[in-house]
Amino acid sequence: MPATLAFDVYGTLIDPSDVVRQLRQWLGPKAEDFYRHWRDKQLEYSFRRGLMGAYVDFSQCTREALAYTCAAEQAPLDAQAQQQLLDAWAHLPAFADSAAALTLLRAQGARLYAFSNGSRSAVRALLAQAGLLDVFHEVISVEDVRSFKPAPAVYQHLLSCTQSPPAETWLISSNPFDVLGAAHAGLRCAWIKRSANSVLDPWGIEPDLQTASLLELAERLAR
Ligand code: LAC
Repeated sequence: MPATLAFDVYGTLIDPSDVVRQLRQWLGPKAEDFYRHWRDKQLEYSFRRGLMGAYVDFSQCTREALAYTCAAEQAPLDAQAQQQLLDAWAHLPAFADSAAALTLLRAQGARLYAFSNGSRSAVRALLAQAGLLDVFHEVISVEDVRSFKPAPAVYQHLLSCTQSPPAETWLISSNPFDVLGAAHAGLRCAWIKRSANSVLDPWGIEPDLQTASLLELAERLAR
């Protein structure tokens, strides 16, 4: 059982696609595609800001990506609707298996960290309302290094916060760019392939573990 496990938050512990339920009231069957575009743009903004050295709170990436997507798709979402969606973003639910997986791993003696692009305060509040905060040793945010995943500096920051050597520190994420970023920084990594059509970028880097769910990961690590 690895001692130090760092979990990505959005898409791994917490389900951002829950906002599709809200989006349907304005967009009907186009809600799913709109969500995908919004999420991709949010991440693109974080990548670009990391490269530019122009850090902002991740919530600004989320807000600006929403405004961009509304304009690009000419979606009928006024300022009030956009605010409603941003509020929903702060109240996203956990995936069904998150609590059970974390509880199992914690019971095996692992030290658990949440490690996110989100600010510490936003991630703490998000995990608390989803009922997941208490299981974590600490919430670690990229805000301390004012950059974003997958910059090597943010994984170095994780290692320095956990005081654990890279070969004994696992990054667990459903986001392929995060998995490859952690592997590039020398960490162990597990890819949670939460959807059948999720693809790991073909860069010749294999995760140490790949599972279809967090619970499957927990069961395999606990063996
Ligand atoms: C996070 C995003 C990348 O939580 O999902 O860091």
